[in-house]
Amino acid sequence: MRKIALFVGILFQLSILSSAESNGFSIDLIHIDSPLSPFYNSSMTQSDVLINAAFDSISRAESFPLNTSLNRDETITIPNKGTYLMAFFIGTFPRGLLAVADTGSDLTWIQCSPCTKCYKQRLPIFDPRNSYTFHLIPCGNSFCKKVRRNSCGFVGECRYEVDYASKSSTQGVVATDTISFNNSYDGRTIKYPNTIFGCGYNNTGVFKPTSAGIFGLGGGPSSFISQHGAEFGKRKFSYCLLPFYYVQGSSKLKFGVDTQKNRTGVVTTPLVSLNPSTYYYLSLDSVSINGKMVRPNESTFGNIIIDSGATVTFLKTSWYEKVEAAVLEVIGHQSVAVRYPIRPFRLCYKDGSITNFPSIGLQFYGSFKELKLSTLNTFVTLGNLTCFAILPTEKISIIGNLLQVFFNIEYDLEERTVSFVKANCLKE
Ligand SMILES: *[C@@H]1O[C@H](CO)[C@@H](O)[C@H](O)[C@H]1NC(C)=O
Ligand SMILES: *[C@@H]1O[C@H](CO)[C@@H](O)[C@H](O)[C@H]1NC(C)=O
Ligand SMILES: *[C@@H]1O[C@H](CO)[C@@H](O)[C@H](O)[C@H]1NC(C)=O
Ligand SMILES: *[C@@H]1O[C@H](CO)[C@@H](O)[C@H](O)[C@H]1NC(C)=O
Ligand SMILES: *[C@@H]1O[C@H](CO)[C@@H](O)[C@H](O)[C@H]1NC(C)=O
Ligand SMILES: *[C@@H]1O[C@H](CO)[C@@H](O)[C@H](O)[C@H]1NC(C)=O
Ligand SMILES: *[C@@H]1O[C@H](CO)[C@@H](O)[C@H](O)[C@H]1NC(C)=O
Repeated sequence: MRKIALFVGILFQLSILSSAESNGFSIDLIHIDSPLSPFYNSSMTQSDVLINAAFDSISRAESFPLNTSLNRDETITIPNKGTYLMAFFIGTFPRGLLAVADTGSDLTWIQCSPCTKCYKQRLPIFDPRNSYTFHLIPCGNSFCKKVRRNSCGFVGECRYEVDYASKSSTQGVVATDTISFNNSYDGRTIKYPNTIFGCGYNNTGVFKPTSAGIFGLGGGPSSFISQHGAEFGKRKFSYCLLPFYYVQGSSKLKFGVDTQKNRTGVVTTPLVSLNPSTYYYLSLDSVSINGKMVRPNESTFGNIIIDSGATVTFLKTSWYEKVEAAVLEVIGHQSVAVRYPIRPFRLCYKDGSITNFPSIGLQFYGSFKELKLSTLNTFVTLGNLTCFAILPTEKISIIGNLLQVFFNIEYDLEERTVSFVKANCLKE
């Protein structure tokens, strides 16, 4: 029996090696609140979803750990409401999992059994004892050093710890195993052996049972794209997000694929290297409202983070106020503004009363063209109201995922750029 298992194991390993994909791959992203999500709660209205997501976005905006000298650099809130989940498989006998696709995290981590402490998880928890492709990493290993806040365990194993806001944390071992994906191009399974991830035995706090952990899409050295980019030939990934209420298809996430060659209207802006390297900092020079350029008071160098884990968009308060004033002016007095009707939204109108939606564009540094947004990116419907989906913040400006829907957005970590192009995400 043992021999057969070993033999099958060897065959499996060979098939793993031979199926490493060099042309990249595409997978579906599922919005956590979408009717297509396995965790859809039909008693939540669209307004409930948006309001919850907006409150979560505020916590996230306030928690971005931007002061690295404090050495408390991972206390961001857990991306939760209003986020996108991705499916992947782990281990020798692939175990399917869903995790939050997070551009604000590097190391992918999942709950592992036997748990010291695990939160309730809807899909079975991964047990590495059943996977013989699972390997611990010694703490002297260079992979271990790529993981932030690594430490050495009792038997010399590499350990990790990630602390989040709201007294939440995950602790465990840094390990490697095969992570595989269901390629939506052709339904084939694509395997990435020896992928570094965190196997979390002690996971406490406000995690939701919908996700087995976090899939790190950040720019730091331990993220999936940083580890495997060389195998694709290009360290790039892209996504095309659909709003949560779209049920005609799925959002897509692609690794190692050129998705913008030959497209017209691509807006490209450089990534700014700031600490921590996890986050994607861009420079937003101005917001245009019907052609009127509204610039921030402060320096625009790396002044905004593009984030998959926040839903609404934030601008620094002094900038937001000027933008809001311009929006009010364009919409005009025929439509009566309703102030603060539903927290945390600030500026709303009776649904259907806006006859003159402002045309809003983003002018990024280094791009000749501005990125023209649609009202779907900047306004939301909450029951009988239409509300402006940009909010002020005292911390750092953030491009949330609602503003990103119906754009193909490509992150090129080699060229260090982020590019946007209007896209029908149903057809990507
Ligand atoms: C579904 O949403 C309703 C209304 O917000 C809430 O009371 C209920 O607890 C939710 N159910 C689950 C399983 O999350
Ligand atoms: C970062 O934290 C250090 C130590 O508390 C403090 O001296 C410094 O002013 C902070 N920097 C910023 C930009 O907040
Ligand atoms: C892979 O994707 C195809 C089509 O997208 C789907 O039919 C199939 O069930 C998926 N397989 C797994 C194991 O999820
Ligand atoms: C689990 O994590 C919590 C929170 O960081 C910590 O207080 C506790 O000591 C940990 N338990 C073990 C057994 O490591
Ligand atoms: C881009 O256009 C050129 C010329 O029309 C064509 O040869 C090339 O295959 C196209 N590339 C992609 C990725 O579609
Ligand atoms: C922003 O700049 C304008 C003029 O350039 C000035 O009137 C305003 O007080 C500034 N706001 C803040 C918060 O610095
Ligand atoms: C919207 O509907 C709520 C009740 O559902 C009502 O109290 C409120 O007055 C309405 N607002 C407007 C602007 O019509």
